[in-house]
Amino acid sequence: LTLCNANQEYFVHCMSVHSSPGYIEVFKYLHIPGSLSYSNLLQYAEQNPRWLNSTSPKPKFIITPNNADQIRATIICCKKLDFQIRVKSGGHDYEGLSFLCKTPFVIVDLLNLRSISINLEEETAWIQSGSTLGELYYSIAQESKIHGFPAGLCPSVGVGGHFSGGGLGTLLRKHGLAADNIIDACFMNVEGKILDRESMGEDLFWAIRGGGGASFGIIIAWKLKLVRVPPVVTVFTIHKNLDQEGIELVNKWQYISNKLPEDIFIRIIIQHIAGNSKEQQKKVEVLFNLLFLGSVNQLLPVMNKSFPDLNLLQTDCIEMSWIESVLYFGGYQRDEPLEVLLDRTVQYKSYFKAKSDFVEKPIPENVFQGIRERVLEEQIAFVIMDPLGGKMEQIQESEIPFPHRKGNLFNIQYLVKWDLAGDSESIKHVGWIKMLYKYMKPYVSSSPRAAYLNYRDLDLGINRKANTSYSEAIIWGRKYFKGNFKRLARVKKQADPGNFFRNEQSIPLLLN
Ligand code: FDA
Repeated sequence: LTLCNANQEYFVHCMSVHSSPGYIEVFKYLHIPGSLSYSNLLQYAEQNPRWLNSTSPKPKFIITPNNADQIRATIICCKKLDFQIRVKSGGHDYEGLSFLCKTPFVIVDLLNLRSISINLEEETAWIQSGSTLGELYYSIAQESKIHGFPAGLCPSVGVGGHFSGGGLGTLLRKHGLAADNIIDACFMNVEGKILDRESMGEDLFWAIRGGGGASFGIIIAWKLKLVRVPPVVTVFTIHKNLDQEGIELVNKWQYISNKLPEDIFIRIIIQHIAGNSKEQQKKVEVLFNLLFLGSVNQLLPVMNKSFPDLNLLQTDCIEMSWIESVLYFGGYQRDEPLEVLLDRTVQYKSYFKAKSDFVEKPIPENVFQGIRERVLEEQIAFVIMDPLGGKMEQIQESEIPFPHRKGNLFNIQYLVKWDLAGDSESIKHVGWIKMLYKYMKPYVSSSPRAAYLNYRDLDLGINRKANTSYSEAIIWGRKYFKGNFKRLARVKKQADPGNFFRNEQSIPLLLN
């Protein structure tokens, strides 16, 4: 393969000067368009095929750094050529921001930076940010049966994006978000300097735990506070039809799920997965999906007192270890080897679009009938409701950028999936989810109508130019961050005054 233009030549030369002893060495981690490694990496990056045939420009290069010097060289050389950087950890960004960009850019794919070291004496771990949640959970389980970490459910999600956007999972009512449990970081700033918590200062350290790392620099590694989990936990998934009885249960759930003891996490998944039979076409299910940090015998009396209508039986419940529950919530069978957690590939890549809400007052019962009618219009649609309360409401709104704390009952994620390629398909399904989102407006948080950064939604607003102002960006910024948006914009001005690290929803600079 030959480098076809002067900019490419210059970039490669620049990288070799700044990172490694020789020109040839550079090609061990720099991938050029037309090479097999480049196309494999790009295809692998695209977890949501919505953009597979997109007309947006492809990256000038993909860099897979093995060390901080190679990241620093990328920053220096991109600045010289006015290329933007898209950092990719697990590649799960809902809007593809880790691998799409409208102006010339380079992808920094952190897949070679994946070391994890657990310190059980300190009950901490250092994890490089190219690792996945599955790799983290697996590594913890190799060392201890009584430690875990509170983060998301899907093992292939990367810790680079997930932790810097919040990170909610089954342990959130007991321990908060992933970002609430980060105690240090190794971070490269726009000057190529490596900073830790002390040298970056508390403002920047605050911002990268929930404010989205991509606005500020590149997180190379995180230091985590591990949490204790009991040797035995209990799970169940109870399937009901979303008929009158199912709707009454969902309604009841709204009043209790955020007030239950912190050891109980019980979420709801309303789903329509239309199969071939007429019965499946018309069936909307509601799943009650629980993790309890304790045994069945401890769980049953609490559930039968607080949620008797669910009529929970011992036979509905399964006891297991915490790491087995990770497999369970990740969609694996209990008897599968733990090594499946190390698989970084998403099993089934489908086109999807999602949106989110937070709920402060119980939704009127009849609205669930309206949701039912609407999800029936799609072949594959989900409304997932994660309870808050517990630890989530003991943490102040301003503690980290994620502000959705006290006063919120639960989070909703709306999700639609489809199989067929093409713009018209995309328009149809995205149109559907927008319609559902509009329908929900009167029943969810307002002023602002809140959203969760990790369920990124560009419909909320985008930065059109590199110099989008704070007052323009506040339209979407308040939804994700409420009052914390201003502090984020102040930190941005300090950390990256030239707005080098930017994307469609990066934090703008607060100029005065
Ligand atoms: P990706 O690599 O795409 O990065 C996302 C964003 O972070 C991009 O803007 C990227 O540039 C930036 N970034 C990544 N690494 C960085 C670094 N080292 N330094 C600076 N910036 C960096 N969420 C949740 O809270 N709970 C859950 O259970 C799930 N489950 C889930 C399942 C599936 C199948 C998907 C697709 C998504 C989720 N999510 C989730 C949402 C997930 O938390 C969100 O998409 C994360 O941003 C994904 O992080 P990745 O590193 O995988 O994405």
